[in-house]
Amino acid sequence: MTDTRLAIVGGGIIGRTHAEAIGACAAAELVAIVDPFESGKSLAAAQGCAHLETLEALMDLRPDGVIIATPNALHVPQAMQLIRAGIPVLVEKPLGDTAQSCAALVELAAGARVPGLVGHHRRHNPIVRAAKAALSGGHFGTLVSGTISSTLYKDAPYFDVAWRREPGSGGPLLINLIHEIDLVRHLFGEISEVSALTAHHQRGLAVEDTAAVILRLETGGLITIALTDAGVGPWCWDTTAGENPARFPAMPASSHMFAGSKAGMSLPDLSFWTHEGPPDWTLPQVNRPLEALAGDSYIEQIRHFTAVIAGRESPRITLADGARNLAVIEAIRLSVAQRQAVPLPAQRLNLSAEPNAMME
Ligand SMILES: NC(=O)c1ccc[n+]([C@@H]2O[C@H](COP(=O)([O-])OP(=O)(O)OC[C@H]3O[C@@H](n4cnc5c(N)ncnc54)[C@H](O)[C@@H]3O)[C@@H](O)[C@H]2O)c1
Repeated sequence: MTDTRLAIVGGGIIGRTHAEAIGACAAAELVAIVDPFESGKSLAAAQGCAHLETLEALMDLRPDGVIIATPNALHVPQAMQLIRAGIPVLVEKPLGDTAQSCAALVELAAGARVPGLVGHHRRHNPIVRAAKAALSGGHFGTLVSGTISSTLYKDAPYFDVAWRREPGSGGPLLINLIHEIDLVRHLFGEISEVSALTAHHQRGLAVEDTAAVILRLETGGLITIALTDAGVGPWCWDTTAGENPARFPAMPASSHMFAGSKAGMSLPDLSFWTHEGPPDWTLPQVNRPLEALAGDSYIEQIRHFTAVIAGRESPRITLADGARNLAVIEAIRLSVAQRQAVPLPAQRLNLSAEPNAMME
């Protein structure tokens, strides 16, 4: 079997992670980095692949698939250009800068029958896969309530890059919370209503640095999320799951706690608490942690992308999922602006119209 020839557009922080994952994935080969700036040039030199300045130049190489890891506003136009050329895409999150432009991308890909994935890499994480399997097994019951902490302290140089400070592209709602939204939807189903408050008192940037968000699920459960990129504490997936140890050394804390009608589960530690008999607050609970296989989310994401390109697997995170995640973020922004709860229309994007969108 020959390697799947992949290119990366955008050789910044996450572009480098993808390049390293391709290097570690037996099924894939990195053929080019497309990035007109110095970061892309130096990454291409370090990876020993071609360095190109434009997507037009990439077309001559005819890669089997392309990862889009550029600033958010470029995602949709670049993905559209590639899909029109018949090239499958893995688009970093958020899928685009507006839910409306994302919907147009979903439609284009469906019409062209070109598969697409979104870079919500947590769905490839063995911890999340173990949690999802346990939920499907019925021992958890239905979600009653959940608490998620996304507590990070981003250092000052992180904000030297302009798009990370700008409303519409930066801020932890779009950069970090969207991963939580995808995780909630993946584990527990669709979100029907949101309420939120934001603050930017800590950094004083135009974008928020802190938010308190409440989600109501279609199944009736409620989840509260405490989000900040300016607060110190270990309670965040990035700093506890060990997903990217070179950037974020893993600390032994829980960041996600979910109470079901039959059991309680926390992540990333995979604690799974039940009573020996029927639930009763006066009786002790026993923790029987779930087991996860070993594995790297980013490498598995690349392997999965090669399998999607070959038609052997269906996208685990469809372009429609990416569009829906962004629609939830937009509703959260509206809730902040209007100071009231915002209902979300039931998700009726036509997933079945998306190429290969029938599994998981
Ligand atoms: N999945 C994740 O965990 C994760 C993590 C970080 C970032 N992201 C997402 O990835 C994207 C990039 O984030 P980042 O932190 O790597 O940003 P970054 O600023 O470090 O990198 C962006 C790169 O895009 C390049 N670029 C700019 N214009 C370009 C163009 N027209 N054509 C090609 N390249 C161009 C820049 O030179 C830069 O190298 C964002 O959408 C972000 O939300 C995802």
